[in-house]
Amino acid sequence: MNRVIAGRRVWAIVPAAGRGERFTSATTHKVSAKQYAPLLGASVIEWSLRALLAETRVHAVVVVLAAGDAHWPAIAAKLNNPKLCTTIGGTNRQDSVMNGLEFLMSQAAPNDWILVHDAARPCFTATDLSSLLDALDAQGALDPRDGSADVVGAVLSAPIVDTVKRELGGNVATVDRQGLWRALTPQVFAFEQLRHALKEAALAGIAVTDEAQAVERMGLRPALVQGSPFNIKITRAPDLRVAAKILQL
Ligand code: CTP
Ligand code: MG
Repeated sequence: MNRVIAGRRVWAIVPAAGRGERFTSATTHKVSAKQYAPLLGASVIEWSLRALLAETRVHAVVVVLAAGDAHWPAIAAKLNNPKLCTTIGGTNRQDSVMNGLEFLMSQAAPNDWILVHDAARPCFTATDLSSLLDALDAQGALDPRDGSADVVGAVLSAPIVDTVKRELGGNVATVDRQGLWRALTPQVFAFEQLRHALKEAALAGIAVTDEAQAVERMGLRPALVQGSPFNIKITRAPDLRVAAKILQL
């Protein structure tokens, strides 16, 4: 069993503490935590965790829950997987990821890889996870603190294939799509590098929408690893039906 990439262990953090404000349940018509919505006989989060739990190179998976989460205990009992542990999240995704890092503080080494994956992305596959971990092999021997590694970490991404428009004050312009990518999850960075980057973003009062944005602010360059364009995030209720179709492909 290989749980180590060039001496650096891989840990996963799955932020699942969101309220799903944009997700209005099709059945109850109420805002509901989309990570627990039913999807093909399981919950969204169970699908999102599937590849991480099956991959032997992932040492443990920290699920970050909202305080008072009533849904998780039954799922944890059902999954009954020793790799799973939990901690409590914060008011935004960035805080939740930070809490996951704090939880790992006593266990993870500064150079260990931290892989962050949204609980709301159930179509993430084992193939995509392998591509991401294989990309880390090339960086495995580099010490992120010695300055020699200008490419750090990896972001699962998909190239933009549509023509892109920008509308500003009624004016519409076409944006050159050359080099444009959709940033997906998982995103993976060295533990201490990610912690430092998120702390700096918070100190500067900058709300980052993904981990890579925080790391880029530090002048570092994450690698983009091409993944499936179908690794969608459940945001609004109809996305759930799209995810079901994708999982049945
Ligand atoms: N998340 C989190 N803690 C928060 C906010 C979000 O752990 N305080 C998690 C969500 O549970 C989700 C992921 O981050 O798995 C992506 O966030 P998003 O799609 O924005 O989910 P929500 O914040 O739940 O949805 P919304 O923004 O519509 O309220
Ligand atoms: Mg949100």
